[in-house]
Amino acid sequence: MKIAFSEIVTPAKGVVAVVVTEERSLGATGRGLDEQTGGALSRALAAGRFKGKQGTSTTIVAPHGIDVDAVILIGLGKPEKIDGRGLRALGGTAVRRMNGAGAKVGAIAVDAVEGASIAPPAMAAEIALGARLGSYSFDKYHTKKKDEDKKSLGELAVMLDEPSAAEDAFEANASLADGVFAARDLVSEPSNVKYPRTIADDIEALNEDGIEVELLDRDKMAALGMGSLLGVAQGSEHEPYLAVMRWNGAPDGAEQQPVAFIGKGVTFDTGGISIKPSQGMEEMKYDMAGSATVVGLMKCLAGRKARVNAIGVVGLVENMPDGKAQRPGDVVTSMSGQTIEVINTDAEGRLVLADVLWYTQATYKPRFMVDLATLTGAILISLGTYQAGLFSNDDELAERLIAAGKESGEELWRMPLGERYDKDIDSAIADMKNVGKGREAGSTAGAVFLQRFVNGVPWAHLDIAGMAWMKGNHDPTVPKGASGYGVRLLDQLVRAHYEA
Ligand code: BES
Ligand code: MN
Ligand code: ZN
Repeated sequence: MKIAFSEIVTPAKGVVAVVVTEERSLGATGRGLDEQTGGALSRALAAGRFKGKQGTSTTIVAPHGIDVDAVILIGLGKPEKIDGRGLRALGGTAVRRMNGAGAKVGAIAVDAVEGASIAPPAMAAEIALGARLGSYSFDKYHTKKKDEDKKSLGELAVMLDEPSAAEDAFEANASLADGVFAARDLVSEPSNVKYPRTIADDIEALNEDGIEVELLDRDKMAALGMGSLLGVAQGSEHEPYLAVMRWNGAPDGAEQQPVAFIGKGVTFDTGGISIKPSQGMEEMKYDMAGSATVVGLMKCLAGRKARVNAIGVVGLVENMPDGKAQRPGDVVTSMSGQTIEVINTDAEGRLVLADVLWYTQATYKPRFMVDLATLTGAILISLGTYQAGLFSNDDELAERLIAAGKESGEELWRMPLGERYDKDIDSAIADMKNVGKGREAGSTAGAVFLQRFVNGVPWAHLDIAGMAWMKGNHDPTVPKGASGYGVRLLDQLVRAHYEA
């Protein structure tokens, strides 16, 4: 879907959307359309339940007096409560309604709203971001889908008095959307198409975005002593890779210590010898979502030339059962030197991240590390699909992340770490085991395991198992399927605190 900013006109075709604030108040463009249609808008407002509440909308089909097929009234809520998050949701809702109406072209008018603290160009840039994010679909493997079953909207005009100001404000948002789409595409792809080597190829192509890329293959990882990651890869025909992406955008050059983002990239998780039940196993193609988010984030930072030094590091492996696969009870030695008893080969994400975290802090001395991982089913039980779990050894980093979550709409809920949980992963035969006390505090058991590999560096672990894949669509900026969760969150974190 194409987005263009333009002056306010009454479109000659397609669908036009105007915003309505509570209680039932039209803006300048809405009043103009009302006049042209002999009062169709005010009649619709008076007749129905719709009164302009945020998140609601109503459609007037084939209004008399103008050429458009429909006018959509979209609720903006109370003027004093208008914020970026609400505007992005509104943009997503507009696109949904336009697709629902089968429109090929759409326009949305952004008038100044009395009592709002945000001006039309900034409003338009947020609405456009929400519209773009909500327009996403992954259709490449449908060869027979009929046109009427596809999203119809090919072009959206965002109309306002200062289109060029909105265009400028939208530039960084366009890079953000590109990053989110890159993450969603990677997650949507099936595991016979995106496995460690092909994802590594995609990462190498980020060179074109100005990102430096380095790949470590099995031999290099073995030489570094990454027995924990390599143990997971052992049962797969696919070669594992560790990929490092570097974006050096800090104005003072490469000296500025980087911030580091780390992703779990298990391209398919069968569970290994501790094999998962077949019911629903197909979902485990999204077990690389953490790495996809890191890729999308790096693309976004480079795309908007963020004034920060950032590195992204992902561990790409496939977890398969095989004659060569690791067994429950095996003991592996991680790059840190610490030994791990592998009680359950399905708790593989932490085994991968153990070596990636250790490597990242040892090699890059980052200011902080944030890892993203579809680590535990337990986090989905705890928090559902509305918030990711946040675990951190650093209160300042945790608070900044929570604030960035509220601002971006990709929310986090802080979960506990602590000595008692940590003791639960002590092993009788090795330094630790890869599970805690069965089903108890399962997400924390994963987090305290990771904490043993951060070497005291400020760190946060985001368990995104509930957020990376959406079965329903409760957020109009996130269609069903791959969400790209975390790209917006971490872009916001960087914007708010780490850019010079
Ligand atoms: N990739 C899974 C976690 C997961 C579950 C992600 C559901 C997305 C949706 C992870 O590798 C896993 O299997 N975790 C186990 C840990 C257990 C064996 C300690 C789990 O959650 O059951
Ligand atoms: Mn697993
Ligand atoms: Zn997994």
